[in-house]
Amino acid sequence: SETESKQRGLLIVIEGLDKAGKSTQCKLLTKSLNAINIPSKYLHFPMRTTAVGKIIDDYLNKRIELHDSAVHLLFSANRWEYEAEMISDMKSGVTLVVDRYSYSGVAFTAAKPGFSIDWCRGPEIGLPRPDLVIFLSLSQDVAAGRGDFGEERYEVDTFQKKVLSNFKQLIEPEWKILDASRPIKAIQKDIKEQVLEVMNEIGECVIERLWT
Ligand code: TMP
Ligand code: MG
Repeated sequence: SETESKQRGLLIVIEGLDKAGKSTQCKLLTKSLNAINIPSKYLHFPMRTTAVGKIIDDYLNKRIELHDSAVHLLFSANRWEYEAEMISDMKSGVTLVVDRYSYSGVAFTAAKPGFSIDWCRGPEIGLPRPDLVIFLSLSQDVAAGRGDFGEERYEVDTFQKKVLSNFKQLIEPEWKILDASRPIKAIQKDIKEQVLEVMNEIGECVIERLWT
């Protein structure tokens, strides 16, 4: 039937350092996919509007202190609370364009003393596995040249350097690494090309799970 043969939506994740242009690119992509009748939705983790997200927001803005392990689990919980919605969106044909995902979760916590990449992956196991991960690559020095960081926790040069080295350990062969020092339009063109290519390949494939 028509319903059965309908292509599912994709899970597209864009990762990278702060100021790599992730949000700009995600929003442009969502808009341009919708314009060509590929229903798509922009998601940004952490999703600060939920109950869990509000605690994360308080923590990032230094209004509260939390145990590093607890914060890690909250970031993960903030993805899990969207799991059912992500699955149902994809099944109904909506492509999700996601600004940060489990890879940020792992790369940031593992930049703290005493946290291994392996331990950090634990709570992410079983989340929907992205069909495409695009990594916007920028050296921390170029990122820093794009202006001052804000006041949030983690917006510190030395910490970001550790995060970048963790991201490099998470990169899988199928990730698309794009040079984020180029103009916005050039990057967007590459992203869109990658997305349309993956869309042709995925068809009705099942949704896989992370790190299983
Ligand atoms: P944002 O700048 O994209 O809103 O993200 C806020 C901060 O949270 C940013 O410094 C990255 C960090 N972060 C984590 O530490 N763990 C996570 O799981 C996510 C999604 C973000
Ligand atoms: Mg930020």
